[in-house]
Amino acid sequence: MINKAIILAGGMGTRMSPLTKAVNKQLLPIYDKPLIFYPLSILMLAKIKDILIIVNKGQLNQYKKILPNGNNLGIKISYKEQSQPRGLPDAFLLGEKFIDNKNVALILGDNFFYGQNLTAKLINCTKLKKGAKVILHKVLKPELFGVAKTNNLGKISLIKEKPKKFISDLAITGLYFFDSKVVEYSKKLKPSKRKELEITDLLNIYRKKKQLSSDLLGRGGAWLDTGSIDDFYKTSAFVSAIENRQGFKIACLEEIALNNKWISRKNVVDSIKFYGNCDYSNYLRRLI
Ligand code: DAU
Repeated sequence: MINKAIILAGGMGTRMSPLTKAVNKQLLPIYDKPLIFYPLSILMLAKIKDILIIVNKGQLNQYKKILPNGNNLGIKISYKEQSQPRGLPDAFLLGEKFIDNKNVALILGDNFFYGQNLTAKLINCTKLKKGAKVILHKVLKPELFGVAKTNNLGKISLIKEKPKKFISDLAITGLYFFDSKVVEYSKKLKPSKRKELEITDLLNIYRKKKQLSSDLLGRGGAWLDTGSIDDFYKTSAFVSAIENRQGFKIACLEEIALNNKWISRKNVVDSIKFYGNCDYSNYLRRLI
């Protein structure tokens, strides 16, 4: 079972400068909420309540203003600072104490997931006992991502980070589920040519032990990562189109917490006071 998760929300965001000079990328808006709400909502949909957010050194106060400790969402949020972007598996080195020899999920702070049956899929992934599990999604430009080649039984036979030569069009999304061995294996990793610890090297350790499984987010699901300014606009347009058509919000944290029965109406009233007079508060008012 997986009850703990890490959101990796550091990084310099250099590709998005000057927007990211003063504000961390994950606090910039995707339509009507900060980006960090979206990966956090995914963990809450997966019923994970114990969450460590890894942020850039010096940016902790920005995060604490919007997500102080999770009390009002019925979850526990703790923070850890990363002094420099040493790569995704650094999350498990920085998070060793938090992980406490338990199984753990990792979601990248800039990843966006949406789609029918997503919650059931997520909950299924949290049932992992041993090994590691990744979520794959078909993309047009696999060279931009970590990529997995699968055999005809759906087993992963090859993993490569941003392959220059085509091996498969299945990207490895930024949501990973690991057993408690992940800290031990992360300690064995060496920095790659780009001087980072690579998540694909970590996944390859599990693959070689025949302990790596995968699930597919099919074409009815959306996975977007928000690495560039253009991605921000496209993802914002997606959220705006769905929300304004249906009247439901994507990644309304209080709504998920309320549905999970983690909080009461009183907590939602407190949240409305906290956010002040805005569209998000109006939505919360309608919920209760
Ligand atoms: O989005 C999925 C892809 O994410 C995977 O397919 C790739 O295998 C994986 O390496 C990763 O690729 P990216 O090049 O997109 O990773 P990026 O360096 O942009 O980092 C992703 C997020 O993690 C971003 O919000 C910044 C944060 N980050 C990154 C690093 C390297 C940190 O907080 N600390 C870090 O040390």
